[in-house]
Amino acid sequence: MRTLLTLIVAAVIVAAGAVAFVYSGLYDVSARVPHSGPVQWLLSKTSDAAVARRASAIDVPDLAADALALAGINDYQAMCAGCHGIPGQAASPLARGLNPPAPDLSVSAQSMSPAELFWVTKHGIKMTGMPAWGASHDDASLWPVVAFMTRLPVLDADAYQALLASATGSGHHSEASDQGATDHGEPDASHGSHDHTMTSHGEDSQGDAMAKKNSESDRHHDGHDHEH
Ligand code: HEC
Repeated sequence: MRTLLTLIVAAVIVAAGAVAFVYSGLYDVSARVPHSGPVQWLLSKTSDAAVARRASAIDVPDLAADALALAGINDYQAMCAGCHGIPGQAASPLARGLNPPAPDLSVSAQSMSPAELFWVTKHGIKMTGMPAWGASHDDASLWPVVAFMTRLPVLDADAYQALLASATGSGHHSEASDQGATDHGEPDASHGSHDHTMTSHGEDSQGDAMAKKNSESDRHHDGHDHEH
């Protein structure tokens, strides 16, 4: 009886301590500070197991067709490259600030099954910056980017650029569809002209505008210029 009472008191003290810690503001949430080893372990194991479990129920279509991967490279370039990068190019300022970092998908594609790649692409991962693309895209418009990811491990910088050049007009982020047509049933008509491109500064006008805006706001905040 006495042991039980001691245990209960100890549990209450630990719980009160944990709540006090939460409200104290002592935990550093800065994205510039890496997670501690145990927290990192907890988060990544939980995530790996959750993805594996949910992906096991997914029916994977035939991803072998070149046309599918060709469509996927445009989607990758538009929706993923800004965070995950492309072969042969330095990480963008956005990617350099992510914690956890957006992994090199050419490495991920060697250890993850197509079903797992699809699940993460569709549902995203909480509290990491990995978006749920399924919130805005149906399954049929996400499989091409999965087909493309399975080819990513063999693409060097030149092969990536060559494939991208040959992919004009393929996929829902091709130039043709970006000029107005929505081929994946988006309810919002203005989505037809969307452009998620954020690969690197200076690559397009949006990149330039972002770069300018960033450096202006950096100066505004602390009066110093930052390297971008
Ligand atoms: C805003 C940044 C951002 C964008 C854009 C983004 N991702 Fe991610 N992605 C992340 C981050 C951060 C992670 C790491 C999550 C983690 O550590 O659990 C990630 C993880 C992943 C993973 C799991 C990889 C692994 O090794 O565990 C896949 C697959 C993935 N992303 C695919 C995509 C695809 C496909 C796109 C485009 C359709 C995309 N991502 C766009 C940030 C992004």
